[in-house]
Amino acid sequence: MQSYKKGLVVGAGTMGMNLAKLMLGNGMTVTILDIDPKVLDRCRQALQSDLGSKVQVHFVSDWLQVGECDVVVESVTEDLSLKQRVLKDVEAHVGDETLILTNTSGLSIDDLSDVMTRPERFVGAHFFNPADLIPTVEVIPGRSTSGTCVDDAVDLLRGLGKRPAVLKQSVPGFVANRIQHALMRECLSILEQGVVDAETLDDIVRYSIGVRLAINGPLRQRDLNGLDTHLNISGYLYQSLDNRTTPSPLLEALVEKGCLGRKSGNGFYEWPAGSGENYDRQERELLVRLLSMMSED
Ligand SMILES: NC(=O)c1ccc[n+]([C@@H]2O[C@H](COP(=O)([O-])OP(=O)(O)OC[C@H]3O[C@@H](n4cnc5c(N)ncnc54)[C@H](O)[C@@H]3O)[C@@H](O)[C@H]2O)c1
Repeated sequence: MQSYKKGLVVGAGTMGMNLAKLMLGNGMTVTILDIDPKVLDRCRQALQSDLGSKVQVHFVSDWLQVGECDVVVESVTEDLSLKQRVLKDVEAHVGDETLILTNTSGLSIDDLSDVMTRPERFVGAHFFNPADLIPTVEVIPGRSTSGTCVDDAVDLLRGLGKRPAVLKQSVPGFVANRIQHALMRECLSILEQGVVDAETLDDIVRYSIGVRLAINGPLRQRDLNGLDTHLNISGYLYQSLDNRTTPSPLLEALVEKGCLGRKSGNGFYEWPAGSGENYDRQERELLVRLLSMMSED
């Protein structure tokens, strides 16, 4: 098994920062590249405040400053042509054998690798936010990805303490985002119909299906409930579930008004200045506690 010591993270945003933290926390040295100096600065401050000022990380804003690396994680903005340009840059600056991962949330691995000269060492590695804490990483081979590349990615991720889950085929949105978006389509429809408000909906999900999903997963949960019961409910319920193939008008209206969630100060909830940072801290503490309880089983 190859050992990975030098990582390059491209994109220092929400995901890139925590990907760097994950690698650093596992003894790797990290270079982190972003074209936006403000983002780099925010990332530097966050990493130094969490890991101390002696942390082994190089913050760079152009490819000329990028040195040798064994693995690259591309984590720039979710846009096909931008990612393709970045992947071309990656290939132009790293060795032929360097493992290249993309943290796309659901773009086609084949579309992304169309522009690459050596796509056999390229594979999807879909992390979840916060990437240093959430265990699962979906590993998505493209048509040209070699078996060795998949094995290397799995070894790397296990070495970083993750639970890699290799998909047998690439489908849009992979697995988790398909399920998350199916759930969100119905949540938005329930809000549009005025069945409950946002806070009540969150409370219902958290303290009913949410906790059981974390313990059992959806399919084992159905086994526990009985598949015949599930079939009976499917028979009358599916016809009233939302099956729109376009975004929810409620979601479109919120975004049009500039209500983008925590980053703009309001979304489904109000996010006064400083509240997001406090929430992050509480969420991280709860995640650590919950995951440590789950790892005992
Ligand atoms: N946010 C999430 O919850 C989440 C979860 C899983 C996967 N992802 C995926 O991770 C990727 C990054 O998402 P994010 O939430 O960190 O986005 P983000 O907007 O916080 O960060 C993206 C960063 O990419 C940088 N960038 C843009 N063009 C660049 C270039 N040419 N070279 C270098 N840097 C460049 C931007 O300056 C920005 O800082 C996306 O593909 C996204 O779909 C996000």
